[in-house]
Amino acid sequence: MARLTVALALPPEERDPVARELGAAGYEVVPVSSPEEFAVLLDSRRDFSLAVLDGESDFDQSLEYYSLLHDNGRDIPALMVVSPRALERLSGPATKATINDEYFTRPYSADSLRWRVEAMLIRAQTVDDGKGPVIVGGPGGDTGGLKRATIVAVFNPKGGVGKTTISMNLATTLQVRRDKKVLLVDADTVTGHIASSLGLDQIKTVDDAWEDDIADGNAPRTLAELATHHANGLEVAVLTTQPLDNGNLDPTLVGDALSFSRRGYDFIIVDMHPSYGPINRVIFERADRILVPITPDVPALKAGVQLTNLAVELGIRDKLAMVVNRANAGVSVADMERTVGMPAMALIRSGGLLFVKAANEGHAVVELFPREKVTEDFDALADRLLGSETTPPTEQPVQGRTRLGFLNRTKEAARA
Ligand SMILES: Nc1ncnc2c1ncn2[C@@H]1O[C@H](COP(=O)(O)OP(=O)(O)OP(=O)(O)O)[C@@H](O)[C@H]1O
Ligand SMILES: [Mg+2]
Repeated sequence: MARLTVALALPPEERDPVARELGAAGYEVVPVSSPEEFAVLLDSRRDFSLAVLDGESDFDQSLEYYSLLHDNGRDIPALMVVSPRALERLSGPATKATINDEYFTRPYSADSLRWRVEAMLIRAQTVDDGKGPVIVGGPGGDTGGLKRATIVAVFNPKGGVGKTTISMNLATTLQVRRDKKVLLVDADTVTGHIASSLGLDQIKTVDDAWEDDIADGNAPRTLAELATHHANGLEVAVLTTQPLDNGNLDPTLVGDALSFSRRGYDFIIVDMHPSYGPINRVIFERADRILVPITPDVPALKAGVQLTNLAVELGIRDKLAMVVNRANAGVSVADMERTVGMPAMALIRSGGLLFVKAANEGHAVVELFPREKVTEDFDALADRLLGSETTPPTEQPVQGRTRLGFLNRTKEAARA
């Protein structure tokens, strides 16, 4: 496969070091000095994968470049230098037109720019045929057998429904019981507790590490570099333990770090905070699947309906799948699917105090209690994700005739 080509429309003093860095990383770099020159180039060759533009020094000119990227049916992503003020305005919700573009501010190092380019190109080249994302090519040729992780986010805007429990036990199941290479990311920036629940201490958080990296003028370290190894093989990265002081977690950087980490893992499981904040929006965008734990109670179901409705606006509807948690409460899965408006991927029964006991010992339930029924539920969830288990979760026996009324009321209340 041909090398990936990057157009560089930067001032000469920045262009040269960036060109050297990208060239060393295996990209073909084509410097361009005017929109006119770029228009001619674009007409003569169709292999540009990305353009680096300067939207700070000459904004009007960068708009000319930008429209060339989208003329004549082209859709070439742009990485654009902008002023810090413009960056603030641009960090609102991404539109369809801008979803592939990214922005960065001066000062930047050639190394950090290369890192951004790589992450963008990995994303642009990733195709998902339903078996999980697969890279279709890379700088210098094929993927050399590198792993390409599926990113699975675990989210429900309601607290206490089992996001962390499911993230930890699913990640451990895939790693320990299915022999996959897994990175577990604690992206709960407020009440994250995965590290302590898995008995890991002295974790360097991503926020702290990036603070040091920025101060030292280094490129932000990758999640793989920052992850802590659990004795069972799982790797765990924690975004922050400081809810009020995590200013180094630029959402785009977090998203790029996730995309970049697709290399070398089979799965990246991301435990999220129950909110729709900017970091979560980027995680939604980068995730291949969003698992939504829902317990069979009115507030959790309402939160699920709300998410289904917002998912259209967020462009994530197709990624959502419900995981019915504490599933032995006698509610019909089909009714829950109809109410919430998303398919169920698995049922996790109530494990009673097993979860508390396991956390107190610094383990996941599936590792400490491998023969418990609830561990089988996590096996089934893992197998659905792996594509080897295609049977939808079984219906639970229905108890009582008021069931439907309760679910319908939930749906109506959530719509009101
Ligand atoms: N299937 C289950 N069986 C028994 N206990 C469970 C089950 N799922 C979750 N729990 C317990 O419920 C509590 C809340 O679960 P968890 O922390 O995973 O929820 P969460 O959605 O991550 O919450 P938050 O939004 O606050 O992060 C925990 O004490 C957990 O041990
Ligand atoms: Mg949690």
